[in-house]
This record gives sequence, C-alpha cells and structure tokens, in this order.
Amino acid sequence: MNGPSPPLIKRGKMKINLISSSDWKEGLTFKLVKGIKNPPPGTVGPKAGSILPKGEGLVEVSLGRSEKINAEAIRKAGAGIAKWLHSYQDLAVGVDLQGLADLKVTKPVLALSEGLLLGNFKFDQYKTKKENVGATINLIGDEGFQNEIDEAVILAEGTNLARNLAHTPANIINPATLAERCEDIAKENGLAFKVIEDKELKEMGAGALVGVGQGSQTPSRLIIMKYAGKNPDVKPVVLVGKAITFDTGGYSLKPNASMLGMKYDKCGGVTVAAIMQTVARLGIDTPVIGLIPAAENMVSKQAYRPSDIITSLSGKTIEVTNTDAEGRLIMCDAITYAQRQYDPQALIDIATLTGGVVVALGGVRAGIFGNDQSLIDGLSQAGEKVHERLWHLPIDEEYFDLIKGGDSDIKNSGGVPIATAVQGAMFLKQFVEEGTQWAHIDIAGTGTVNKPAAYCPTGATGFGMRLITEYIRSL
Ligand code: BES
Ligand code: ZN
Ligand code: ZN
Repeated sequence: MNGPSPPLIKRGKMKINLISSSDWKEGLTFKLVKGIKNPPPGTVGPKAGSILPKGEGLVEVSLGRSEKINAEAIRKAGAGIAKWLHSYQDLAVGVDLQGLADLKVTKPVLALSEGLLLGNFKFDQYKTKKENVGATINLIGDEGFQNEIDEAVILAEGTNLARNLAHTPANIINPATLAERCEDIAKENGLAFKVIEDKELKEMGAGALVGVGQGSQTPSRLIIMKYAGKNPDVKPVVLVGKAITFDTGGYSLKPNASMLGMKYDKCGGVTVAAIMQTVARLGIDTPVIGLIPAAENMVSKQAYRPSDIITSLSGKTIEVTNTDAEGRLIMCDAITYAQRQYDPQALIDIATLTGGVVVALGGVRAGIFGNDQSLIDGLSQAGEKVHERLWHLPIDEEYFDLIKGGDSDIKNSGGVPIATAVQGAMFLKQFVEEGTQWAHIDIAGTGTVNKPAAYCPTGATGFGMRLITEYIRSL
C-alpha cells in the first residue's frame, strides 16, 4: 500500500480530515447520491440524509430529490452520516465529495461539514457513560476544500457551544456562573470582557434588570464581551441576548408544563456569547459588542411582585403587571446601556421573549421586528442563506395602546392575550432612541425543538448563531 493509510475512526470529538482520493485506500466509504422519488429496492430514498448500506464497504447517502438539492439538503445528508455512525465503533470512514461536484450550491463542503458536526451534537457532559458520538471523518476530495471545512468547524463549534450552554440546567448555570463561562470564552478568543454586578447595576439605576433578579440567590449581571474587529474605524454592531437562567414566571407563576423548558430561557444570551466566539475566530472586519443581561426569575420574599412600579435605566417607569413578562425588563436596560455606551451601526436583540411568537410561527421561523427595513432585509436574507429563517411581524403605533401605562409610563404586559409577541416588541421599542437602527428577533419558538430534527437532537438548537454571524459578515 502506497501513501498514508486513512486514520481509523476515533471516538471523542468529531474531527474532519481532507484526504485525496489516491490516499484513500480502504474503509467504509459514503457516497452522496441524488434520491429517487419512488425508490426501487436497493436504491436510496428521496429524503435527504437517508442511508442505504450497499455492502463491500460502500454506503449511499441521499441528497434528497434532485430538483430540491440545496445547502440544507446537503447539511441533512451530513447529519444522516453522523447519526448513522453513532451505532458503530472503530471504522475508517470516508465521504466521497464527488457527489457534490455538479450541484449548483455555493460552498457545498461547508454545508456537508456543518451537517456532520451539528448532527453529531449530544449534550453528554453530565453523562458518566458516554454514548458513541465523535469520529474522524475523511472527506475524500480536492485540497481546495480545506477553507470550507475550516469555516464549518468554526460555525458548528459556535452553534454547539450555544446548545451546550443552553442545555446546562439552572443549578449549574446562574447569572454568576454564566458570567464566568463567558469570561472563559472571552479569554480563549481574545475578546475584551467585563461584568457589571448587582451593586453597580443598582447604582447605575438599572432597576428593571435588578428587579427581575431580586428574588434569586444569585442576583442579576450585565455581561459584556467585545470584539474589536479588523476594521476598528467602523461603528460596532451591538447584540443584546436575553439570559434568564431560569424562568419560573415569578409570582405570576408558570404552570408546571410551561415551566419545564425554562432552563432554555437563556438561549438568546448564550447565542450572543457564541456569536462573539465565532466572529473572533473568523476574524471579521466589523467590531461587535455582545451584551448579555442575565437574571433568574424566582419566587421568594425578596422577589418583585405584580403591581410593583420600577424605574428602568432609561428613567422610564414600568408597572409590572405580570412578573412572567420578565425578559423585556432585563432587555430594556441592556438596550439603553448599548445606546449610551456605544454608538451602534445596528442594534440587534435576540430573545426567547413570548409564547405569542410560538403560536404565530411555531418552530419554523423566528419573528423579526424592527424600525429599519434594510436591517430587517439584511437579517432575513442571511437567515434564508443559512436556513435559520425569519418572518417580519409588525409594530404599528396603534399597538402601543395595549401597554400604555396607568400609574406608570408603561406596563410590561397589556394583560390581554392578543398580539402578545407584538406587545413584547412594542415594549422594547420604547427604549430605542431616535436614529438607532434596531431589530428584535423572538426565538421562543425556534430556540428549541421538542423532538429530534435533522441536525439537532431534542432541546436547544442554537438558532440565531449562524444567522447573525452571516449577517455581520455580509456588512
Ligand atoms: N420565557 C417566556 C417566553 C417563552 C414561552 C419562551 C414559551 C419559550 C417558550 C417569557 O418570559 C414569558 O413568560 N412570556 C409570557 C409573557 C406574558 C405573561 C405577558 C408569554 O409570552 O406568555
Ligand atoms: Zn416569563
Ligand atoms: Zn422568559
């Protein structure tokens, strides 16, 4: 046998190698093939990612129906391979890139690699006995594809970082330990880092962020991560991500079934942390600042109550009509801070904000609101490109009536179950100053899946990580 022999599968973290066809000698080879509508026995089916072992070291993977093959179908094919390999130990695995050669898809090897790495994700840090995930995959093809693989690794590691943090339960991640994790991420990636603790937040006047966290043993934090950018002369994009490390609803207590998923109420915040890692690793031009308001929404003798009137950092007073509408309270102070401290070219917030957006859009698209059509369009286009899709929802002035204050300037909830996703967005809009280009992305529906999806097991999806990164890169 001439040349290096293909490395054996190594269980652990998935690794992707690029290997030329002359160096690929023996092992299990996956071939990417176009799916057939009514597959006769022995041919691969029309569903992208479906697998058909052909014997003699060959396995076919479907790219889906030929007229529908796009980056998403290739991602699914990659995930199909990753998941299928979970049942096997110690194999030499190759994927022949020839099957991607004649497709009209940009960066097909990026999509395949993303599918492999995202499809391989498993939240198993707290399993003493790990399942069979992780492998070395040899992509068999031209060395020119290395850039696409490198990019996919950065993007998938970012998404999987967001997923891992989101999965970690509230007895482990609270506002203080989340700040520690973010500090580690900042150190590893050369980012500037700062955390503003409870006492200073109170002195600053961030009464909304402090108020939500005052019922918890671990009071609120404002976590700040900064990426300077290759071109520090342009204004930064400022990101704000909701990190409620657990949302009981507070005294407006959630019923058990709705409380169950509420460790995931930090999805927006951890996505921002992951984006910060990713933009640094990609070395993009635009400076990016990530603000993560973090709090735990609990019930205790210190907790805030319905009818409390609190004063936000902006000076606006808020009547807390519902302690379960806490996300907008921590977000509004971070939005004010963003505009006071930085001069953003765009302010983008991301939050698991409302049950209303789940009713409206389910898990397929996230809602996007904003005051600037070009920002909304840019984000929407980025979303189509990476298959983290958005849908533009309105915030016409007439909706303000729903949250208009009685004894205070505004209420945190209108108290009527109509247009509740819009109420959340309208509330945030009150803190956006004239001249700030702002978009709000409500990921309450897309931040998690309640059954396994093509390249995401049940739980956190990391939605927004690839989308916002793609948008910032496009600037
Ligand atoms: N964290 C929830 C929103 C949510 C719901 C996220 C379902 C993920 C899945 C948020 O804090 C909340 O409770 N919102 C309430 C507000 C209402 C009480 C005004 C809602 O939208 O139901
Ligand atoms: Zn809530
Ligand atoms: Zn919440």
